Amino acid sequence: TRDKMPPVEGDVLVHASASKEGEIIKPSELSEQLIRAWPMGKDKEGNNLIRKGDPNNVLAVFRYPKGQIVAPTNLEATIDGEIVAYSDICTHAGCSVSDDDQQEGQMKCPCHSGQYDPKRGCIVVGGPPPRPLAQLPIKMDGDKLVVAGFFLENPYPFTEAEWEARKE
Ligand code: FES
Repeated sequence: TRDKMPPVEGDVLVHASASKEGEIIKPSELSEQLIRAWPMGKDKEGNNLIRKGDPNNVLAVFRYPKGQIVAPTNLEATIDGEIVAYSDICTHAGCSVSDDDQQEGQMKCPCHSGQYDPKRGCIVVGGPPPRPLAQLPIKMDGDKLVVAGFFLENPYPFTEAEWEARKE
């Protein structure tokens, strides 16, 4: 069903935190402090539909001053090299990486202390995760952040076969 689909091109990013859930994320709200987001698409009738039927759809969004986001981040999939989005699902055992205790500028998984660097493509900088978090291409549409394509790498929890099928 559509609420379980992974992010689809054109989806709008909305807040996933309990206090603001469903509100459209404004670029001015973003900073080096991780913001959790859901992709919001449309149902068959054209009404807004938050894709939270699958907890693996939660995303992490950051904004850094220009020049701080560097390779291996795909800069073309960011907004002006300043705003970047990733899957929030840890590549180690599938926990949601962000929690409400996240320190500014940090991305540390609460389950086994896996750490990622969002300025460098969410490469693993500590703990057991086997690979980076998948980057999700985004762009601006007016003052909304929208999904610009599918994940650039295989996000947890697709199997390799599911991932290959999705790319076709
Ligand atoms: Fe994230 Fe283990 S699930 S470090």
